[in-house]
Amino acid sequence: MTASRRVLLAWIAGTIVGAGCAAPETSDTRHAVAVEQRREQLRDRLVASLGDRYDEPLADASIDQIRGGSALYDLLCRSCHGPTGRGNGRSARMLLVPPPDLADPATASFFSDQAKLRIIADGVEGSPMIGWGRMLSEEERIAVLQFMNTLVREPRVP
Ligand code: HEC
Repeated sequence: MTASRRVLLAWIAGTIVGAGCAAPETSDTRHAVAVEQRREQLRDRLVASLGDRYDEPLADASIDQIRGGSALYDLLCRSCHGPTGRGNGRSARMLLVPPPDLADPATASFFSDQAKLRIIADGVEGSPMIGWGRMLSEEERIAVLQFMNTLVREPRVP
């Protein structure tokens, strides 16, 4: 990535984080239920629109891809999703819709990789998660997802 592109992307990321912020809201059970319902509705819509492609696996990631994805993540995603994907980035507390804990295996596997790629490209309506489809190439979107997938903790053996 060139230095000027990096600066441009960082500026865009700052604007987006600002726009997604609102007066801090105390999270109550009702809010949590609403978030869960939205996720389910979103998954239904993605299953319907992706059809057979919904469960298509990603190709194995190369080290270079993960490195590139990690740089993009730090620049564009980390402020909300947090340094290790737990949804605790420095802007996260101010967001009306909280970023999910994507280090948690159950939460991380709620959407398929193809669904996540669609979310990364198009965003989620009514959420601070905007679409990056016009800012990142498909290759970059795959790389950043490959990196995010490395943040999932191993499920604990009971
Ligand atoms: C302004 C804060 C913000 C930024 C910046 C941001 N996200 Fe998000 N992201 C969210 C929120 C909030 C959600 C939850 C969406 C919802 O449920 O409406 C989310 C959801 C997602 C999801 C779906 C995961 C799931 O299981 O719900 C993926 C994948 C994702 N983001 C990837 C990215 C990537 C990649 C970037 C950087 C290119 C990024 N996000 C940048 C706030 C952000």
